[in-house]
Amino acid sequence: MNDLQTFARDIHKGLSAPLKHISSKYFYDDIGSGIFQDIMKMPEYYPTPCEFEILSLQGENIINQLHFSEPFQIVEFGAGDGIKTRQLLKKLVERRVDFTYVPIDISAKAIEELVTNMLTHLPSLQIKPMIGNYFSMMEELAETRIPSLLLFLGGNIGNYEPLEVNRLLAEFRKCMNPGDYLLTGFDLQKNPATIRCAYDDPRGITKAFNINLLHRINRELGGSFKTNQFDFYSHYNPINGEVRSYLVSLVPQKVHVQYTQNCYSFDRSEVIWTELSKKYTVREIEEVAAANGFRVMEHFMDCKAYFTDSLWAL
Ligand code: AVJ
Repeated sequence: MNDLQTFARDIHKGLSAPLKHISSKYFYDDIGSGIFQDIMKMPEYYPTPCEFEILSLQGENIINQLHFSEPFQIVEFGAGDGIKTRQLLKKLVERRVDFTYVPIDISAKAIEELVTNMLTHLPSLQIKPMIGNYFSMMEELAETRIPSLLLFLGGNIGNYEPLEVNRLLAEFRKCMNPGDYLLTGFDLQKNPATIRCAYDDPRGITKAFNINLLHRINRELGGSFKTNQFDFYSHYNPINGEVRSYLVSLVPQKVHVQYTQNCYSFDRSEVIWTELSKKYTVREIEEVAAANGFRVMEHFMDCKAYFTDSLWAL
């Protein structure tokens, strides 16, 4: 099945279900990756500056925890623009450490820009970009035996339901060997109002990010969504740390999708669930690590303790 067929199948399944759902992994086409860049520049969106601070100020400490005896690779899943990661890589390049940076992203445009950017700032960096989804890239990686540090930054893990987190970590483990490391970004629980503002911004950039899912269905699958007939709603639950986001149908309406040869009906105020963005406690992070056979080495946090990059060893 090619990517378009998979997209069509998932959309058909998601829009036929009693609670309609579109997976947040479909946010990141070239246009959506561009809107996410704008989200990262919003004053309300604290995760980016927090992780930037961690990788800039604690890069040395992170590196000092790694004990590789031969040249290694740093594999980054969902590399995006790579600006935060560059802060860490810079330290290694300055120390003349022998390593290769392997950024993986689903957006070809994002990868192109990342490579250009990295080489402008770090001309001597050895870089081996890969374009594709995590799981097919992991299969390729599992075949190599190069010592590795895997990066899963930015709080991407927050998009996974607890059972899926375990499945994802099992996949990471498959492409790791004893002595390898995993550095994962977790957004931490904090004042609920701070979280709410980050996921429901007054300028409507997060709304545009969500509405792009409907544009994408129109573009790629011949959908007939009238995007101005949908609103956006996001909710943070401080009891379980979950931000859940939705598109809301403003009127009763039917939408046709050519590729799936189906019509989907929406009641007035019916929602399409688009994203989970889970916020963790340090304790939960340690439980997840232990349950999946990882040893926690250190939690690297920003000064406000809003975010952590947790270093785990296998
Ligand atoms: C890219 C998954 C880390 O959950 O904070 C930002 C995506 N969604 N605003 C996040 C996102 C709404 C982001 N991650």
